[in-house]
Amino acid sequence: MRPDIWSAITNAETKRLAELATGRRVLEVGSQFGYSTVVMALVATAVHAVDWHQGDDIVGDHDSLPKLWVNLGRYDVRERVVVHVGRSETVLPLLPAGSFDFAFHDADHTTEAVLTDARLILPLLAPGALLAFHDFGRYGVREAVEALGLEQVSLTHSLVVVQT
Ligand SMILES: C[S@@+](CC[C@H](N)C(=O)[O-])C[C@H]1O[C@@H](n2cnc3c(N)ncnc32)[C@H](O)[C@@H]1O
Repeated sequence: MRPDIWSAITNAETKRLAELATGRRVLEVGSQFGYSTVVMALVATAVHAVDWHQGDDIVGDHDSLPKLWVNLGRYDVRERVVVHVGRSETVLPLLPAGSFDFAFHDADHTTEAVLTDARLILPLLAPGALLAFHDFGRYGVREAVEALGLEQVSLTHSLVVVQT
């Protein structure tokens, strides 16, 4: 199912994200208008969705929060989504350690930002959880993921999954 919400995420990536989120406590960093949030919330136990909703150099400068909230309502997933409005480096250190079974990163794609976010995400994951990054092979994402030194589990278009 492809939600009627703007996103660069492909159909194959959507299918893989839904598989990874099924029955899991999910952490998402980078929600924008809620495409990936909805895809995962339709099948997850819960999704904690972190975004400051002011865009970045790639998606441009805009307030995506009103559309996110409308879209969560349109797909009837508000009760399974916890919306955290703030910068990842501010919000992630406040979340409880070991409390997520899967995390999806699709925020600032510079190498430095992806590495900073990944290092904040890793302590929040339960043992053996999978971690996925969008835009692998674009911007600085590949360099950051490779610097983490984690085993690559799968690559679906630009959605890479690593074992933690
Ligand atoms: C590519 S969009 C996310 C797309 C979304 N996952 C989808 O399904 O289409 C990137 C988002 O990351 C957010 N963002 C960028 N840097 C951030 C940061 N440091 N903290 C929180 N959000 C950030 C932007 O506001 C933007 O909404």
